[in-house]
Parts: sequence; structure tokens; C-alpha cells
Amino acid sequence: MKNYQDIINNIYKKLKNIDDPGNVADYIPELGTVSADNFGVNITTTDRASYGIGDYNKKFSIQSISKILTLTLAYQIVGEKLWERVDVEPSGNPFNSLLQLEADLGKPRNPFINAGAIVVCDVLISHLKNPKEDFLNFCRDLCHSSDLQYSDKVALSEKKTGYRNTALCNFIKSFGNIKNNIDDVLDFYFYTCSIEMTCEELSKVFLFLADEHFLCQKGNHILTISQAKRVNAIMLTCGFYDESGEFAFRVGLPGKSGVGGGIIAIHPDNYAIAVWSPKLNKKGNSYKGMHFLEQFTTDTESSIF
Ligand code: DON
Repeated sequence: MKNYQDIINNIYKKLKNIDDPGNVADYIPELGTVSADNFGVNITTTDRASYGIGDYNKKFSIQSISKILTLTLAYQIVGEKLWERVDVEPSGNPFNSLLQLEADLGKPRNPFINAGAIVVCDVLISHLKNPKEDFLNFCRDLCHSSDLQYSDKVALSEKKTGYRNTALCNFIKSFGNIKNNIDDVLDFYFYTCSIEMTCEELSKVFLFLADEHFLCQKGNHILTISQAKRVNAIMLTCGFYDESGEFAFRVGLPGKSGVGGGIIAIHPDNYAIAVWSPKLNKKGNSYKGMHFLEQFTTDTESSIF
């Protein structure tokens, strides 16, 4: 049995005060108000043990990490038909790029770039009675806790400055791959990104991708084993945009980042680990978070490769 607490404590101590060349995201003005010094880690194992260090109990904006949750709910509802609307190929481009959509006739490369997540949100709006409420309840159910909320401040801050996402949504609609009203789709997308969680909650919420026996609060499985395999595969190949290869190379786990500075990574059959440090590298992924996870899978010899 590995001593996860000692391992994360040691890596945390080593990295806490390193020179971090990253920058806190401020293209969503509200995210720019978060202190750059925050640094937290939490791991939850499939035998339900949980180990945390630093700011592991502080809420932060999970941003694009929510794209795994919107994908999961849409996949649960429409099954394999989802892939008619969004592909499963790495984009090799920044998360907010418009570049490939023209050639791809409005079908986003994958559900983890903004274009793909916007289409997934459109699918959810077509199937949910009260999209915001239903999605939040889905997340609470996964977390076994009612203490999850959207941040109105962050969602509205992004809505005011979300020019690229507005362009993406309009462009995709011009190809017929957005079925609902643009404003409704964008509003729902911004809210899903604004959800706040702690590292401890994140590592609990994502246990369903590490543990095939995981049951949500209602006592149901979230995805079939085959569906969970597919979601993990998309995380491995597309979770870090044009840095997905680098993450697989250095860390070797399915994972997903957000511009709030969070990263979640999964070791199927073993654990889910969440790291939060708000300063991002040039590709929009947490600088310290990537370093932490690289050291963690090295010290524990627990990558999937
Ligand atoms: O749409 C956006 O730009 C943000 N709400 C989410 C982007 C994000 O987190 C990408 N992550 N690395």
C-alpha cells in the first residue's frame, strides 16, 4: 500500500515556492481576481481513502473541467448518437480556436475544446427540462453533496467578454450543428464552466471514471464500463488541447485542465487526483499542476503506461 499522504506532502513542499513563470487567466476578468498563491492537491482512491494538502478545501472555478461532466451527462442521455454531432480526434490547436471548423463543416474535433463543449451544451438543452438546475443536480449527485454552486459572478463576467465563444456558437449554427437559440446555449455553457469545487470535491466527483463500481447518490452507475473507457480515452488524447501529447508524455494519465488552474487526472482502477494552482503556462494549463502530476506519477510509478 502506497503512502499517498507522505508522497503528496513531499512533492507539495518541493514545488510550493518554485519560480512559477505562468500567469493567472484574466480574459475572464473575474478569474483574474484569484490569488496566484493558491496551491492544493487531493487524491481519492477507489477504496474511498482521501488525502489532501495545501488549499485542497478551497473552492475555485473548475472552468473546462466541467466539459467532462457535460459530456458524461449528454453521453448518458443520447448514447453513441452523440458522435454524429462532435468528433473524438485531438485538435492540436488552442482550446478556443475557430480554425478547423470551416473545413470540418461545423463538427468540432472533440468535446473538450470550447466548440465541442458548446455543441454538447446544445444537445443537453434539447433534452433537459431545466438545463442549469438539472446539470447542477447531476454534479451534486456525483459528489454525494449538495454543497456545489455556480458562480453568477464568473458566469456573467465571461458572458460580457465571451466574444470568441459567441463567434464559435454562431459559426457552428451556420452549419446547422446548433439546434437551439444561441443566447440560451451560451448562457448554459458559461454557467457550466462557472461551477465551483474544491480539489477534494473534484477528486470525489471523478471517481466514477476510476472505479467501475462507483454509484452516484441515487444508487446508479453513471456510464457503462465501455463508455467510461471512451471518456478516459478522449481525456488522454484531447484533455490538454495542443499540450495533450506533452501531458501524456510527462504524466501518463487521462486528465483535463481548466483555466481556473485546476487539473483532474484519473488512474483507472486506482484513483482520481485533483491539483489547483491558478498560474497557467502558455497553452492555458496550470504550470505547477502539470509539474506536480509529473512528479506524482513518477514517484508512485502509477502512470497507465
Ligand atoms: O470558454 C472558456 O474560454 C472558458 N469558460 C473555459 C476555458 C478553459 O477552461 C480551457 N482550459 N484550459
